[in-house]
Amino acid sequence: MQQMRILGIESSCDETSAAVIEDGKRLISVVTATSLDLHAKYGGVIPEIAARSHIESIMPVIEQALAEAAKVTADNSTKKDDNIWDNIDAIAVTYGAGLGGCLLVGVMTARTLAITKNKPLYAINHVEAHAYVNFLTEATPDLQHSYNLPNQAPVFPALALIVSGGHSQLVLFNDHFDYVLLGQTVDDAIGEAFDKVAKVLGLPYPGGPSISKIAKKGNPHAYDFPKANLNTSNPMLESLRHAITSSNSHTNINYDFSFSGPKTAVLRTVQKMCGKDHSFPSFKLAELLNDTQKADVAASFQRIAIETVVDKTVLAYQEFKPKTVIIGGGVASSPELRRQLSEKLPIPIQYTDPKLCTDNGAMVATLGYFKHIRKQPSSDPYSLDIQPNLSM
Ligand code: KG4
Ligand code: ZN
Repeated sequence: MQQMRILGIESSCDETSAAVIEDGKRLISVVTATSLDLHAKYGGVIPEIAARSHIESIMPVIEQALAEAAKVTADNSTKKDDNIWDNIDAIAVTYGAGLGGCLLVGVMTARTLAITKNKPLYAINHVEAHAYVNFLTEATPDLQHSYNLPNQAPVFPALALIVSGGHSQLVLFNDHFDYVLLGQTVDDAIGEAFDKVAKVLGLPYPGGPSISKIAKKGNPHAYDFPKANLNTSNPMLESLRHAITSSNSHTNINYDFSFSGPKTAVLRTVQKMCGKDHSFPSFKLAELLNDTQKADVAASFQRIAIETVVDKTVLAYQEFKPKTVIIGGGVASSPELRRQLSEKLPIPIQYTDPKLCTDNGAMVATLGYFKHIRKQPSSDPYSLDIQPNLSM
């Protein structure tokens, strides 16, 4: 049978990425350009700068991903450059959630290519795509050494913890395109909280990796930052419980997260350590802290932020007994998250490569593949619009 290849395009935040994947499981090419360096001095992504750099990078990135894919043929024959579209069966593009100006660049490019190259176009939800990257279990010989992929694809029902700079979601997938959102953040996303705490500690953006690094030298129990206790209601979760628990086990565990309380607690603690109050500019606090204090705050915050999502993942595992647990999103590359999950979950997780946890075109292409073979509706390339606030 002829292999099926999907081109995935991602531009929802600061990464411009394109990838080609085959049969929903094999990574053929992935090319990513990031505008991270341009945002670093501001301590966060500046939407206009990100959008402008997508405009500059998107076609070179797509062309390179296609050219690299064209070199990888089943019979190892070399293809001519003008044939790079021959083996592409469909295009998938992130249309939400994300920054409006950034999404527009990817979507308009994908629409144009779908029309001119006459390919079906699939609109991809970025958060769902973060979970789907776990279906990649193989790579071309060239990429095998750079990407450490799981041996097995997820099996349904699968519990997914999706944690990034924009999202913190716990989702139960019963099958492709059949899922229940068990919980999500009610305020900041976990990655956003890492980024903000890093800023208070004077650590470089993005905050997650900076905190991970410095936390290695700190005491994770030096400070006891509070964990939120939520009682939000979730009708989807209630109806799921109603459907599966006919009578007995009655639980009312809440799977929502909150990170704004712990984040503010860090700020208040640091102000106190420095003998300052709210009138003192927070960006100057870091100058008054020594390295040990910074490392202790970082390690203590990391511990409770990660415990918050891990503990709820373990509770959801116990309640719904999925066959697989998967993680995705930038924060899923955190070694502390992986350590705590491996320690607390009774089943092993097949972690994907940390490079595939942050935004990339491969996750978009993988979800696009399943939409294509499962006969999900494709999008009209003349009218597909962005949805910056798209939810799951
Ligand atoms: O998925 P992603 O690339 O972009 C969004 O969709 O938001 O995630 C970026 C986020 C940033 O907030 C970054 O601080 C966080 O992922 N992150 C980490 C780590 N690496 C990246 N957070 C904690 N620990 C890490 N090692
Ligand atoms: Zn993301």
